[in-house]
Amino acid sequence: MKVADRLALVTGASSGIGRAVALRLAGDGARLVLTGRDPERLQEVAERTGGKAVVADLAEGVDALLDGLPGRPALVVHNAGTGAAGPLEEMTSAQVDALIDLNLRAPVQLTRALLPGLRAERGHLVFVASIAALGVAGEAVYSATKAGLRGFADAVRIEAPEVGVTTVLPGAVDTPYLARRGYERTIPRPVRSDKVAEEIARAVRRGTSEVVVPRWLTLGAKVHGAAPTLFAKASRRFG
Ligand SMILES: NC(=O)c1ccc[n+]([C@@H]2O[C@H](COP(=O)([O-])OP(=O)(O)OC[C@H]3O[C@@H](n4cnc5c(N)ncnc54)[C@H](OP(=O)(O)O)[C@@H]3O)[C@@H](O)[C@H]2O)c1
Repeated sequence: MKVADRLALVTGASSGIGRAVALRLAGDGARLVLTGRDPERLQEVAERTGGKAVVADLAEGVDALLDGLPGRPALVVHNAGTGAAGPLEEMTSAQVDALIDLNLRAPVQLTRALLPGLRAERGHLVFVASIAALGVAGEAVYSATKAGLRGFADAVRIEAPEVGVTTVLPGAVDTPYLARRGYERTIPRPVRSDKVAEEIARAVRRGTSEVVVPRWLTLGAKVHGAAPTLFAKASRRFG
């Protein structure tokens, strides 16, 4: 779809990939609704893009955001998310719930509420999942939320043919999230968030179903699909 003059909702717009997507969509002429928790960082993006800021904690539910929408979005970029790294047995029950609430429950509930409008607009949904959807050791719950998002997107794509649906599977992206997670590897080198935003803008324009960033990681997704045991062995060996 063309985004010019259409209303686009971006979650997690106050930082990292969501901020880059907001700037990119504004450059392409979209009208924006931006949501996040930090009012100052969100306001900065709103001022730069001419968007409306709606401060909301999506782990607490989606009603506050839905109440703050100025209209019916034609594009929804489900990007807000967080991670947790470490052995599964060491996670608390509350940490598990928090990840599922933000990364999976919120986009599912928002999509459920916004789908009638998206159908009417012949709009587009973007789900920012992760290459971790294939399964990453030490990130089992995070991986589960992202795999759940990918399966949800695949189902909505079939159920709502009027709506374009793109799933994005980034590898490491250079954002505050990655710094908080303590990512220190140089291979694969983190990609820039504006590169991910560019890929998302292109996927929306072309109606692409799934995008892996960087593209060479598509090989991992193919091996995972064709030979899951080999994928697990290689993943254990090379991380
Ligand atoms: N960076 C990577 O390497 C990487 C790789 C694969 C996938 N991803 C995915 O990309 C997405 C964006 O991540 P990022 O790297 O850009 O991280 P980021 O810079 O930390 O941004 C995360 C965004 O999510 C928002 N958010 C966090 N908790 C929230 C909550 N409870 N309610 C509402 N909003 C909340 C944050 O808002 P506030 O800051 O205002 O709280 C922020 O705008 C996530 O879904 C992440 O899983 C990232």
